[in-house]
Amino acid sequence: MKCLITGGAGFIVSNLALELKKQGNNVTVLDNFLKGNMKNLEGFKGEVVEGDESKIPDEEFDVVFHLAAITDTTVTDKQEMYDNNVNGFRLILEFCKKKNCKLVYASSGATYGDGPVPMKEDQALNPLNVYGESKVEMDKMAKQGFFGKTLVGLRFFNVFGPREHFKGKMSSMIYQLALQMKKGKNPRIFKHGEQERDHIYVKDVVTAVIKAASYDEFGIFNVATGTKTSFNQLIDFLNISLKMDLKPEYFNNPFVGAYQDTTVADMTKAEKELGFKAEYSVLDGVKDYIEWLNETGWYE
Ligand SMILES: NC(=O)c1ccc[n+]([C@@H]2O[C@H](COP(=O)([O-])OP(=O)(O)OC[C@H]3O[C@@H](n4cnc5c(N)ncnc54)[C@H](O)[C@@H]3O)[C@@H](O)[C@H]2O)c1
Repeated sequence: MKCLITGGAGFIVSNLALELKKQGNNVTVLDNFLKGNMKNLEGFKGEVVEGDESKIPDEEFDVVFHLAAITDTTVTDKQEMYDNNVNGFRLILEFCKKKNCKLVYASSGATYGDGPVPMKEDQALNPLNVYGESKVEMDKMAKQGFFGKTLVGLRFFNVFGPREHFKGKMSSMIYQLALQMKKGKNPRIFKHGEQERDHIYVKDVVTAVIKAASYDEFGIFNVATGTKTSFNQLIDFLNISLKMDLKPEYFNNPFVGAYQDTTVADMTKAEKELGFKAEYSVLDGVKDYIEWLNETGWYE
């Protein structure tokens, strides 16, 4: 198939571009390099277009995978966030409608905020930052703008894996703790490490995104494992994978009162309607990732 991937030099997105190319597809990547890096696309043989959504090549595509976004959850400027994420999505929707092409886009588990767990696609949304708000807005626009062709929004939870290096402070907890441990330091986590997240390995996320292109209508789905892992458990998994035995160093959580202690997805709908189930447990994903980091030397 011929596909366009927006945000292609970013973390999840470069993994998607490389996999789609490996599977023999015709792939064009669009990125304005707000964040991503060409090093993520080393070995990628498709076309790379530099720019934002206004620079989409005027060609026919079978599918647009729209993953470009400001992904920094600490950005507080709503105008900046909406100009990029929401207005960019508006252009993508218009383009896909005009070209009658399939659209799969990245929403986020951040849309649920501190809502009840396990988080279900149809529960009330309560984002805790402007990033999450921009994704809620995109989900609304997608629902209203459905034009009869595949239109799927995917709410990724906490993604980790190869090529997230360039996200800096926005890289996964797993990567940040691995970096500390690799330097022989005790991994630092909030007291007392019992907070839980639904971590999913990027290879499973790529599978879900590709699968979504075969869904025939409008749908919004969680992309997660449906299991919660505490920060303490993450450190156990990292110790196993790095063959170390470092104890956590606890510090006070500065966000107390505005912090979700547990997030976890309900995967019933994605399993039933999309046929998606993560193949990697968190431990298996961490092992695979650490092997990759060791082989490539992509530690900081
Ligand atoms: N990583 C996660 O844990 C996670 C969780 C939930 C949702 N998501 C979503 O998945 C998608 C991919 O996330 P990621 O972690 O790979 O992010 P990332 O920041 O690594 O990549 C995003 C890429 O988009 C590019 N970009 C930003 N705005 C653009 C624009 N207007 N036009 C063209 N390119 C633009 C950036 O330069 C960057 O390369 C994002 O939409 C993000 O919101 C990610």
